[in-house]
Amino acid sequence: MPATFFALPGNEALAGSLAAAHGAEPARYEMRQFPDGEFYIRIEEPPDDKPVYLVCTLDRPTDKILPLMLLGATARDLGARAVGLICPYLPYMRQDKRFHIGEGVTSRYFAAMLGRSFDSLLTIDPHLHRYKALSEVYDIPATALHAAPLLAGWIRDNVRNPVLVGPDSESAQWVAAVAKLAGTPWIVLEKTRRGDRDVSVSVPDVEKWASRTPVLVDDIISTARTMIETVGHLQDAGLAPPVCVGVHALFAGSAYDDLQRTGVARVATCNTVIHPSNAIDVTGLLVDALKRHEGAKAAS
Ligand code: R5P
Repeated sequence: MPATFFALPGNEALAGSLAAAHGAEPARYEMRQFPDGEFYIRIEEPPDDKPVYLVCTLDRPTDKILPLMLLGATARDLGARAVGLICPYLPYMRQDKRFHIGEGVTSRYFAAMLGRSFDSLLTIDPHLHRYKALSEVYDIPATALHAAPLLAGWIRDNVRNPVLVGPDSESAQWVAAVAKLAGTPWIVLEKTRRGDRDVSVSVPDVEKWASRTPVLVDDIISTARTMIETVGHLQDAGLAPPVCVGVHALFAGSAYDDLQRTGVARVATCNTVIHPSNAIDVTGLLVDALKRHEGAKAAS
């Protein structure tokens, strides 16, 4: 039974590619808000025992999560065999421990919430730091794909004589993987975060890399303070203007402008979150993974 794909607003292109790879078009449905703000949902063709996938990246999740869950519930109620979530950016992964007394470990609550609505989860480079795998926090089958080969390919094609720079120890896993694939040297800096927007970074032996183009690599760019601090240190050390490469372009508030104003050579991100800096396309990664998944199910 072929899968049916639903695009949540803003995810039409990706859902279109996923559906096309399965010889179909995204499912048609109506979703609007009543005058009081509550959602109205109507699926045109009931899924009738088909597997259903909802396609929705979850940057700025607060406004997205309720319609997503209501659409999933509607599909299930109308007979979907299973309801999976394809979510290129998975939020709430950074709240992975109680840093201070009384704080909520919201990664766990968010995972429990999604687990009640969906039967499976497919995402790209979730922020795995203290959790080593999604299965430590998600009870449903959850697959994490990796953009590292795409990042490495983009760097190989676009940057001459690079040295990859990770802004902190958390980024070592990304940087090492990307550097290995790109065949470039890499270094990781030391970061101290004193508050949401108060970050300092130190650079070991940076002069050693003077002849190379620094390429900052991180999984998430949110306030961009981590990258901005790093750019400042690299500039102080006399290195060439860096290229900034991130997987998830969250860019809160003026972060993108702030980063560009530092004089970076270029900012390039993946389209897990749609943003003007997108230069690296993850569509093929998701299409291939889903084909494998559906193929494996059909064979079993
Ligand atoms: C660390 O937790 C992440 O890997 C990123 O370094 C961090 O999210 C970047 O945040 P910001 O852009 O706000 O400095």
